[in-house]
Amino acid sequence: MSQSKVNLYYKNVTADVIGDEHGITRAQFDELAQKTEPIIAQVNRQRQAGRTPYRDLPHSRDYPAQVREIAAELKDKCEIFVVLGIGGSALGNIALQTALNPYMYNIDPAQRKGPQLFVFDNVDPAQLTSFLDWIADRLDTTYFNVVSKSGQTAETASQFLIIRQLLLEKYGPEGCREHIIATTDKKHGTMRKITDAESYRSLEVPDGVGGRFSVLSPVGLLSAAVCGIDIDSLLAGAADMDERVSRPEFKTNPAAVNAAINWHYYRRDKKISVMMPYAWALKDLADWYRQLWAESLGKSTDLDGKTVFIGPTPVKALGATDQHSQVQLYREGPNDKLFTFLQVKTFAGNVKIATPPDCAPELAYLADKEMSFLLNSEKLATEYALLQDKRPCLTVAFDEINACTIGQFIYLFEVTTSIAGRLFNINTYDQPAVELGKKATFALMGREGHEEMAEEIRPYSKFDADFLV
Ligand code: PA5
Repeated sequence: MSQSKVNLYYKNVTADVIGDEHGITRAQFDELAQKTEPIIAQVNRQRQAGRTPYRDLPHSRDYPAQVREIAAELKDKCEIFVVLGIGGSALGNIALQTALNPYMYNIDPAQRKGPQLFVFDNVDPAQLTSFLDWIADRLDTTYFNVVSKSGQTAETASQFLIIRQLLLEKYGPEGCREHIIATTDKKHGTMRKITDAESYRSLEVPDGVGGRFSVLSPVGLLSAAVCGIDIDSLLAGAADMDERVSRPEFKTNPAAVNAAINWHYYRRDKKISVMMPYAWALKDLADWYRQLWAESLGKSTDLDGKTVFIGPTPVKALGATDQHSQVQLYREGPNDKLFTFLQVKTFAGNVKIATPPDCAPELAYLADKEMSFLLNSEKLATEYALLQDKRPCLTVAFDEINACTIGQFIYLFEVTTSIAGRLFNINTYDQPAVELGKKATFALMGREGHEEMAEEIRPYSKFDADFLV
């Protein structure tokens, strides 16, 4: 396994760096340790009792073997691989692809080891028609992975029905069996019913693993393996982090320190958590993190039944791009944010900046410098500027971006979320607020049994002309 590591660096949230008003004092850090250590033990016990099955995914032998078998079968015949899914059934797939395959993967056959990959995690008709036009005469070599635990999700179900019809018209039921792979619940749900009735190949969404914790299961592993990502290293990286985030001692446990610092700031009016990768490859991991953090920690009721309306707001920014968009606010706006930078030591590629023309000597400082040096200097410069304004900054430092470090990062943030959930005293693993919107969509689309809700929504369905300007 690669020895590259992911580490959390937290000096720049301390009072020594940003002062007592906004920084964490040594005494406060000790209090955080005291508060969090019993929670580490509790989270470890929950895991031993089988209540957080996502924790065991890095150690599974069965899931990677099942995934590898399908990937091997597709190897010589699949030129386009399409994932249909949304939320936890798509964000991890997208994040792995962006992180671990080259920027031009889909465009340049020389830069890819697998088929082109498309992930449809929306129901935008213009987007889909454009794709369907393009794919019409490429269907022979296109394979679809429909990922839905329930099979009831309107977005995924509608895409699936469109694709199924397309395949049926062109190839008949045999074509559907050949071109569709379902990733769904082992026993229950609509997609399982269809999968069994129509005899699709299928992979399992493990029991008790919610979408946002499922990237290291077949949900995220199949598209990764098909597209040439080393899923063994990914899981080995997560397993390596498992040892670190299970450590009972607060100060040696990166997930505990990360969760406690986030919790500390939430309670001190820094309720916004900005994740800012300084690597294009990591930008979709920040999207994945947004869902993990928001759906897990945004809750109206705590574990004692008290109304709390709690939860940090995760924000995604990309360095250096958003320095020219957000940093003005981040420095001079309210001091209500905790920043988490993602920094990479060694990039997959590097390029030297060329010499400027004689007429532009003011650009000479750039000449002969590597672009990675510029990007990392910009990260440091932005962090330094924020620290001058007493804004707390964490850094997740990657030795390099590879399957092993991405596995470490994913697992670090999953367990950080579990520990943070206990600190916030909420149920980390449910998402009751998402359900009402799902039901309202059923009602608006005329699903049987939702007539009453359709009536309730009707007053909102038209713009009131008095308020239209
Ligand atoms: O994290 C979650 O649980 C959600 O984002 C789900 O993954 C998402 O709603 C899709 O659900 P399903 O897999 O049932 O289609």
